[in-house]
Amino acid sequence: MTFKTQPQQQHGGDGPFRIADPERIPTRRYYDEEFYKLECERLWPRVWQMACRLEQIPNVGDWIEYTILDKPVILVRTRDGVKAYHNACRHRGVKITEGRSHGNCRGRGFVCPFHGWGWNMDGESTFVYGKHLFSERQLEKADLALRPCRVEEWGGCAFINFDDSAPSFRETIGPVADRLEAHGMSKLRAEWWYATVLPANWKVAMEAFMEGYHVMRTHPQLQRATPAMYRVRYGSDTGGIGQAVTPDMTARQNIEAHFKGLELLSEGMAGMVHAKEVGIARQLLDAELPADPAQAVPMWFGMVQDQITKQLRARGEDIPDLNAVAVSDPVEAVEFLFPHFFLLPTFTSMSSYRIRPLGPESCLFEIWSLTHFPKGEEPAPLMEPTFLPYDSKDFPPIPRQDYSNIPIQQKGLHAQGFEFMRLAKDIEGLISNYQRLIDGYLTGVAADKLTKAANMLGGNFDGKILDLGF
Ligand code: FES
Ligand SMILES: [Fe+2]
Repeated sequence: MTFKTQPQQQHGGDGPFRIADPERIPTRRYYDEEFYKLECERLWPRVWQMACRLEQIPNVGDWIEYTILDKPVILVRTRDGVKAYHNACRHRGVKITEGRSHGNCRGRGFVCPFHGWGWNMDGESTFVYGKHLFSERQLEKADLALRPCRVEEWGGCAFINFDDSAPSFRETIGPVADRLEAHGMSKLRAEWWYATVLPANWKVAMEAFMEGYHVMRTHPQLQRATPAMYRVRYGSDTGGIGQAVTPDMTARQNIEAHFKGLELLSEGMAGMVHAKEVGIARQLLDAELPADPAQAVPMWFGMVQDQITKQLRARGEDIPDLNAVAVSDPVEAVEFLFPHFFLLPTFTSMSSYRIRPLGPESCLFEIWSLTHFPKGEEPAPLMEPTFLPYDSKDFPPIPRQDYSNIPIQQKGLHAQGFEFMRLAKDIEGLISNYQRLIDGYLTGVAADKLTKAANMLGGNFDGKILDLGF
């Protein structure tokens, strides 16, 4: 594969700190003020962003606020689906919903706290106090309407985009959206939702989840449980995960090791492997299996998926056939929806992460644990995350371990002589692909090419450096 490489430019029309060598990421992209400003001007206003979970606005009139950088948006459930508006009064710009993050506007609509102008949930102006005081041209209906923001519903979430000419969300994300949907994405509900502020650039935080190469050192408990799995993936052993067996252990011992791995994932990050799924896997520890571990391990996983499907369906959960979707719609351990949202699907549940910049070296990091519930037994929607300090012991162990690296990576990036990160081309490719897609936005690459490149990121976790076509 050949890459079009540009001479390394520090500043200028081609964008500062542009990636010239796909295996090397210039460090100043993670703290330089000018680079951050460019992202604020050219990236964030043009991308699809996960703005809320749909269960947060279940009824007509329910609204919730989403903010990216300094731009507040209101999302509201109307009779015609979810609509979104830029959150500013058309009179003198007061933020209409200041002081509240969500509510219901049915009947009343939205009312500006300053001089009381009003709008209905469709954004139409319904009230201007003392109309006769204004010139007629100031009172045109269309001009008084709240400014709409693009919004698309997918996967149990609403996504917004400030760019009216951007390709649709579905086009941008591409086929991975269908694959995740086949795994029951839109039927998931949040069990818990945590937020923290990390002293790191938003990309440093994202990239901590783009490869599993860090498991050995950062999550040693996972590697200890199933060393063969990690050797196959990152070490010198070859073969697929199906061959992730330790040859000097019996089939039974191999399965116990894999079971321990599932337990640790569940304790470590809830939705990644739900406790109810671990409970079902436990029932199968004594299952009849071939003596050859290479046959027994994949067969056991097949039985676990089959039983999870059957038993959770019997409880009334609307979940897919796990063995069928594993073949028809395979997903990676982590799936990224450019630019700031990603999912960790394992069996029927998922963890979901969203990261927003708060400054060049600070970001807001949120995690949801998502799972299915029988109809009528869904928990009340969570309207606010539980905020914790990033080193809080209340975080599950896996994110806590990840958070321990992120701030110190940010510090190290400033050290003298550290000019660029050096990536493993075959396993850390997603970091390079992500960063070069960002460059595409910053340097004015055409929308169709950006969309094609964004599509390529589906299934790219632990993947190779790709030729993005620009
Ligand atoms: S600023 Fe909103 S009514 Fe005046
Ligand atoms: Fe991790």
